[in-house]
Amino acid sequence: MPAPHPRLLWRDVTIFDGERELPVPMAVLVEGGRIAKLCPSEALPATDPASVRDMGRGGVMTPGLVDCHTHLVFGGNRADEFARRLEGASYAEIAQAGGGILSTVRATRAASEDELLAAALPRLAALVADGVTTVEIKSGYGLTLADELKMLRVARRLGERLPVRTVTTLLGAHALPPEYKDDQDGYIRLVCEEMIPAAAAAGLADAVDVFCEGIAFSPAQCERVFAAAAHHGLRVKAHAEQLSNLGGAALAARHGALSADHIEYLDETGVRALAEAGTVATLLPGAFLTLRETQLPPVDALRRQGVPMAIATDANPGSSPLFMPTLMLNLACTLFRLTPREALAGMTANGARALDLADTGRIAEGLRADLCVWDAGSATELAYAVQPGRLRQRVFNGEITHN
Ligand code: NIG
Ligand code: FE
Repeated sequence: MPAPHPRLLWRDVTIFDGERELPVPMAVLVEGGRIAKLCPSEALPATDPASVRDMGRGGVMTPGLVDCHTHLVFGGNRADEFARRLEGASYAEIAQAGGGILSTVRATRAASEDELLAAALPRLAALVADGVTTVEIKSGYGLTLADELKMLRVARRLGERLPVRTVTTLLGAHALPPEYKDDQDGYIRLVCEEMIPAAAAAGLADAVDVFCEGIAFSPAQCERVFAAAAHHGLRVKAHAEQLSNLGGAALAARHGALSADHIEYLDETGVRALAEAGTVATLLPGAFLTLRETQLPPVDALRRQGVPMAIATDANPGSSPLFMPTLMLNLACTLFRLTPREALAGMTANGARALDLADTGRIAEGLRADLCVWDAGSATELAYAVQPGRLRQRVFNGEITHN
């Protein structure tokens, strides 16, 4: 019987540690699920070969990727809407006509928990096969108490089926369900007084999200959701400034948000609010691409003010049906002009920061051994080429899951 946590040793790997590429070839020893040693290969003390498993030499090692913003659990798909947008309809027009998010709500409500799980598993498997070791999954296509909890239970179960850490977020305030068509505030009351307390009591949500937008909820309504989340001990985050500037990101920051996401329309004042609160700016190039957005997120201002930038897939059936995290590295560079280093940090250290996880997303002694080794010569190559099949090894919690 192999030991549950064998000692694993790599030599002469190029390391991107979550912040930067280290200047010399490194050795890494994993033991007991943690990174036990990280040193230049030259400085590695003589190791008894019988006591370690030799994981090879060369390649690029990164932290396991952290996809800090997804909507992986949903019923149906929106291929028809994709075709309609190609004919000229906009995302907002489709939403206003009862399509968009609400069409996924209808399909998600109609699906059982097991059906949603079966549909989401291959999507999650695609992320895992592309190097993800931690993924955030939102609700937001149920919009009733029972259906939101159903989605969160599916998100939790996904993490039991595959070797990946799942973090769940209640996104009750995603869209106004048809039964509350004339009572927006009544729906927000349902989110605050029933969904948040129930999700918190059942331990089903790690955070609470909102969609602050003209086609969704106003800043005042989002503020009520943030207050209810705080009352139940849950951190918050926001879909903000995606289609217009309503000040949602600054509002979220004032409520101690972990992240403000999308933020193409964020202005300088909003950037300052994120900086002051230590809120992560999560950039979602997949949604930018899919919606053919032209307004770029304020990357220079974010850099100047030292706001950490995360990158995520936003994997969902409408605005980002793109289930490939490594593609996002490339898109973040090509579309948003991030450097390859910034893009990789966005899917590792800063992704973890956006989820409030301190022990993953970086390579350092003592941290959890969530690691990927890629067939590449430099970290830059990972953002440069969109090339499935380069993942040589994946380690989750110190266990080899792909070799
Ligand atoms: O992150 N902006 C709102 N929510 C999702 C889209 C969900 C959908 O279109 O189904 C987003 O883009
Ligand atoms: Fe989203």
